[in-house]
Amino acid sequence: MIFKSSTTDIPEVRQVPRHIAIIMDGNGRWAKQRFMPRVAGHKRGVDTVREVVKACIERGVEQLTLFAFSSENWRRPEDEVTKLMELFVLALEREVDKLHKNGVRLRIVGDLARFGPRLNKLIADGEALTGNNTRLSLNIAANYGGRWDILQAINRLITDPDRNGPITEADIAQGLCLSDAPEPDLFIRTGGEKRISNFLLWQLAYTELYFTDTLWPDFDAVALDAAIDSYQKRERRFGRTSEQVTEAASKT
Ligand code: IPE
Ligand code: IPE
Ligand code: MG
Repeated sequence: MIFKSSTTDIPEVRQVPRHIAIIMDGNGRWAKQRFMPRVAGHKRGVDTVREVVKACIERGVEQLTLFAFSSENWRRPEDEVTKLMELFVLALEREVDKLHKNGVRLRIVGDLARFGPRLNKLIADGEALTGNNTRLSLNIAANYGGRWDILQAINRLITDPDRNGPITEADIAQGLCLSDAPEPDLFIRTGGEKRISNFLLWQLAYTELYFTDTLWPDFDAVALDAAIDSYQKRERRFGRTSEQVTEAASKT
C-alpha cells in the first residue's frame, strides 16, 4: 500500500496518530543518577518499550518506530556497544513470542550487515514469525541512520538497469526501509535533547515534533498520553493556511 506523501499530497489527519516514531534517549543519565552502570539504564529501557508497545496497541496506533541504535552509536566505548548487542539478543529471545501473541508485527530496520550471525538469525526468525500480524507494526531502528536510508534507496535506483529519467520523490519514498508505513504523525524524543540525531530524515518532513525531559526508563503510558494530547492540539497545515485547513475539514 502506498501512503500519501506530506509533500506531494495532503495526508489524512486522524485523532490518534497512525504512526509514532520515538528516539528513546536518556538511559545513561537515568543510570548515572542512581550510581548504576549505563547498561542498567538500557535494561530498564527495555521495560519501557514493553509498556509503550502495550499502550500503543490499546490506543489503536498502527506503526511504532523506535530508535534503538544509531549508525553513530558504534562510536561509543566498545564495552557499552557489546552490552547493547547482548541486550538486543536477550530482548529478542524473550519478547518475540509475546509480541506474536499480541498480534504485533516486528521489523528491524537498519544496516543489519554489521550485526553478527546470531543476531541476524534472531531478527530473521522474529520477522518471519510475526510477519502476518496486523494489530501493530513495531519497527526497531538498529544500526539505522536517516542518511544511510536515503542513500541505499538512491543507490538501488541508479543501479537498476530498467529505470531511466529523473528520480522522483515517490521513487525514493518507495526505496526507504519504512516504505510500507505512512510518514510518522508524531515524533517523540525523551531525555531532553532537541535534535533528530540522524533518525528518519526523509519521513519527518511534516511530522509533529514533541520533546520531553523525561528520561526513557521513566517514560510510561501516562507520558505517552501527554505526547498524544499535545499532538491532538496541533493544527497540521502542510503548507496551507489555517482557513484552508478548517474548510477542508468541514467538507469531510
Ligand atoms: C539511549 O540512551 C539509548 C541508546 C542510544 C542506545 P543513551 O544511552 O543515549 O542515554 P544518555 O543520552 O547517555 O542519557
Ligand atoms: C539517539 O540517541 C539514538 C538512539 C536513541 C538510539 P543518542 O544519545 O545517540 O543521540 P546524541 O548523540 O545525543 O545526538
Ligand atoms: Mg543519548
